[in-house]
Amino acid sequence: MITIALTKGRIEKDTVKILAEAGFDMGFMADKGRNLIFIDEAQDLRFLLVKALDVATYVEHGIADLGVVGSDVLYEHPGSYLEMLDLNIGLCKFSVASIPSYNPYDHKRKKIATKYPKIATDFFNSKDEDVEIVSIQGSVEIAPVIGLTDAIVDIVETGNTLVANGLVVFEDIVRVSSRLIANSASIKKNPEIMTLIDRLQAVVGNEEV
Ligand code: PRP
Ligand code: MG
Repeated sequence: MITIALTKGRIEKDTVKILAEAGFDMGFMADKGRNLIFIDEAQDLRFLLVKALDVATYVEHGIADLGVVGSDVLYEHPGSYLEMLDLNIGLCKFSVASIPSYNPYDHKRKKIATKYPKIATDFFNSKDEDVEIVSIQGSVEIAPVIGLTDAIVDIVETGNTLVANGLVVFEDIVRVSSRLIANSASIKKNPEIMTLIDRLQAVVGNEEV
């Protein structure tokens, strides 16, 4: 049996669509209720519905052979899994944003609020800029508005949250998309996993990463 950990929430629908297009019967998702584990005896598959970061954990520990998770999470929490495919869903980007009057050159040491301290630190370090990170759990957009920080580093998808809070993008950092990750031992052990990956690749139509 092959176990696939899927990220609950935003990317769930698009992930299921890709799996269905690859020929898997994903009918169980229609009335899943509060269930978090689904066994498909006919296809010898098991699906786990978990939080993004936990997808990586289940795959790393070999409990899941494969996982679908955003590159934002993979970047922030690197681990010992293999990245197999860019699924081209969950598309968004990391950006630096702030109130329109923000001038990056005003600050010798920028104070940045973010849910993603590693990405933010690496970005400013790569530009040789001094930064102080303030870790925030969510609703990061209010930080520069109420004067907690000079700017934020966060995910921008539609840009609606920025607009609603009167913020503008100053710099884009990197594109974000959902990836298929794999446990390396699983791949060596079970050749059917590569077959499954090939089926998904045929649907998403890009080269393995
Ligand atoms: C995410 C992200 C941005 C917003 C981007 O927040 O942190 O705030 O979505 O989407 P948009 O550009 O389409 O507005 P989320 O809603 O997940 O909440 P949180 O930050 O409070 O966790
Ligand atoms: Mg947010």
